[in-house]
Amino acid sequence: MQSVHKNYHILTYGCQMNVRDSETISGLLEAKGYSAVDTPEEADIVVFNTCSVRHSAENRVFGKLGEIKKLKKANPELLIAFGGCMAQIPANQQRLKKTGVDILFGTHNIHELPQLIDEAIAMDTRIYRVWEKEGAITENVPSTRKQGLSAFVNIMYGCNNFCSYCIVPYTRGRERSRQPDDIVNEIKLLGEQGYKEITLLGQNVNSYGKGLPYEFDFADLLNKVSRIESIKRIRFMTSHPKDISDKLIHTIAGNKKLCEHIHMPLQAGSNNILKSMNRGYSREHYLELTRKVKDTIPGVAITSDLIVGFPGETEEDFRKTLEMVELVKFDAAFTFMYSVRSGTRAASMEDQVPLTEKKARLQRLNELQYNIAATINKSLIGSVEEVLVEGLSKTNPHMLTGRTRNNRILIFSGEKHLIGSFISVKITRSTTFSLFGEIVSD
Ligand code: SAH
Ligand code: SF4
Ligand code: F3S
Repeated sequence: MQSVHKNYHILTYGCQMNVRDSETISGLLEAKGYSAVDTPEEADIVVFNTCSVRHSAENRVFGKLGEIKKLKKANPELLIAFGGCMAQIPANQQRLKKTGVDILFGTHNIHELPQLIDEAIAMDTRIYRVWEKEGAITENVPSTRKQGLSAFVNIMYGCNNFCSYCIVPYTRGRERSRQPDDIVNEIKLLGEQGYKEITLLGQNVNSYGKGLPYEFDFADLLNKVSRIESIKRIRFMTSHPKDISDKLIHTIAGNKKLCEHIHMPLQAGSNNILKSMNRGYSREHYLELTRKVKDTIPGVAITSDLIVGFPGETEEDFRKTLEMVELVKFDAAFTFMYSVRSGTRAASMEDQVPLTEKKARLQRLNELQYNIAATINKSLIGSVEEVLVEGLSKTNPHMLTGRTRNNRILIFSGEKHLIGSFISVKITRSTTFSLFGEIVSD
């Protein structure tokens, strides 16, 4: 029989998709009578929600699993459930079967977790059930979001792009879009619960709607969602550069609720490498796109992901990445060393770049990007920004922190009662990564 008053703890790794999936896992467990606890030591079940995007991400998880298994020695009743992207990969499944977790589930059957727990307890056995392929989208699965102002909303799942370095299409399956009405209803409810800002999530939001039985694209979805009165700001990610349409750019420019920020990962600056990555655009196309975006959307922030040391990347190719970074002047960029993901096309490519070279290139890239970010931040001094006040600053708890429309974090002094409101803040000081300001009375 199922006992009540049990505790759960979730360890979440990876991207926003996983953050959102962990909210679903919380909702499912709470519907079963479990309560959230802050540490694994207090838990009756520890759930791993894992990421496979780079080798280092997987290593971190295996390290943590070792720690949690020690807890199980002290408390044999403790259940360890293991899910997320790592669980979808056959080699990991083999390893996990050997090292032993109690429950193994994948990205496609999260909604089955309560049932798997029941089976594991009732039969006192390990339950390993990972769906190899995605099923139909399951709607109305319970979920517990952290109380707050900003919420993630999935608009689609999976990816069809098969960039040659990337494991995501293998762990998340084929691309499929949620019905617009399901998305709108979820967001309306979030508005009623007090959320003011939403971020629409997809691996490539620009191809939203492709599988729907009628013509309805991402720009149409943005327009529909923006009519929800209670939601004041709409963000979205990620935008694949090959699918950013003029219609989308004009939609963002023409709708005040759509924040002026586009995360459009360039990945690499050389056409040879872009081709070998299977990205589907050239550096010239990317430059033209950013020019159009900047001309059409005043004050827009453009951010990127960049990979160094992709197989075959020469010094000359790498310099093309540096050159693009200087030309575009990204407001921020996440930079990574290429990591071999077994099963992807790039894993078997010749001319893998040695680790020492990858490290050196990463450092050179970061130096350049930090300089650019510092210069951009400095140029913002004196400007007044609309800020949604999010809470107390983590680094400076007697100050407030908030986010500008183009996704910059601003720190300023003010009364706590301002949390949750939109205010105007004048930027007075900047560092490479932070902006400080003063509230401007209207
Ligand atoms: N769907 C998104 C992001 C997916 S993963 C997109 O297309 O942009 C997030 C980032 O991780 C990628 O943009 C890429 O820069 C990086 N990444 C993915 N696979 C990687 C690998 N094998 N090695 C290093 N970085 C990788
Ligand atoms: Fe990976 Fe490319 Fe899909 Fe992004 S678009 S998830 S990088 S395959
Ligand atoms: Fe996200 Fe990592 Fe999976 S980046 S989609 S959790 S492999």
